[in-house]
Amino acid sequence: MSAKHRIAWLPGDGVGRDVMEAARLVLDRVGLDAEYLHGDIGWDYWCREGDALPARTVELLKGVKAALFGAITSKPAKEAEKELAPALQGKGISYRSPIVRMRQMFDLYVCLRPCKAFPGNPLNYREGIDLVVFRENTEDLYAGVEFSTVPPALRDTLGALSPAFKPFAALPAEEVAVSCKINTRKGSERIARAAFEFAAKTGRAKVTVVHKANVVRATDGLFLEAARRVAKDYPDVALDDANIDAMTMWLLKNPFNYDVLVAPNLYGDIISDLCAQMVGGLGFGCSGNIGEKLAVFEPTHGSAPKYAGQYKVNPIATILAARMMLEWLGETEAAQRIENAVAAVVREGKVRTYDMGGSASTMQMAEAIADRLGAAVGARA
Ligand code: IPM
Ligand code: MG
Repeated sequence: MSAKHRIAWLPGDGVGRDVMEAARLVLDRVGLDAEYLHGDIGWDYWCREGDALPARTVELLKGVKAALFGAITSKPAKEAEKELAPALQGKGISYRSPIVRMRQMFDLYVCLRPCKAFPGNPLNYREGIDLVVFRENTEDLYAGVEFSTVPPALRDTLGALSPAFKPFAALPAEEVAVSCKINTRKGSERIARAAFEFAAKTGRAKVTVVHKANVVRATDGLFLEAARRVAKDYPDVALDDANIDAMTMWLLKNPFNYDVLVAPNLYGDIISDLCAQMVGGLGFGCSGNIGEKLAVFEPTHGSAPKYAGQYKVNPIATILAARMMLEWLGETEAAQRIENAVAAVVREGKVRTYDMGGSASTMQMAEAIADRLGAAVGARA
């Protein structure tokens, strides 16, 4: 009989493989009825094939509802090109982060990043923090419309259309780079709606829109306006907004004044690292990249190549990403059991990875969590 769920399994590279092994141990022990389909992704495929997200992996993702993704190494364009197989060099192949590509290719427009302090975690900035970030995941400065030297047609057009471009138009093309921040009404409204919908469903009081509309007037102005319009449909949820810079200060000063945050892509990227740090750092930050048909779950941390294969890093972020995946798949009871098990292990404080001041390995942490899963409701003893 075929399994109930088909899940794309994308370990990637670096510590991605370590933490995925840990997550798998927990998923197996929670008794998820799933078939895991391995997908090639990451730095090795960039070096060997010139593509960190090979077409066969894209095909695999087309046939599943969910994927769990570990981590992958990414490097700036010039360094990346140097590591390509000699036969692939000088062909103008350029590196783009596979996770960013997956988000755009599959329109995974919600980046959901819950940041909740588990009681007793020695890394908590404060006990009781419970923030949820909704980051727009496909547009903004991540649109990928960039020019590392400005083509003359672009220079002339910008010069003709915007007086503010005048000082730049006079410079030699190779002295100027342009990255376009592109935000759409549809993109802004749907992330705002996702945030408000979540707040309304989970009984959260407030959504704070993070922006810089006082300076970045066109794009962030549109984002803020879209959020305000959506907020009207949710009279029971308060709307609040703050500039990204002030937000970083306020979050540290008064973390309990905030609840759900919604932001365009880049500010969401920044603010979600800050929020993750307040609840234990990257060992606790997990993400869901969620679209209509597919969702890709991942720890927020990177691939930390120097720790690869050492089974040293904290797998909790990935285990919590797996928990989010179970919710998306409708396996809410299993999701809750994982959440409770993580909470129990953190509260007891006997098993701690190095980031938490302990010496437990990645797999020891996973074992400890698996041991606390308890029996499924309705399971026979
Ligand atoms: C994240 C990461 C990615 C991003 C990187 C790895 C491209 O920082 O998921 O937050 O910038 O979105
Ligand atoms: Mg980030």
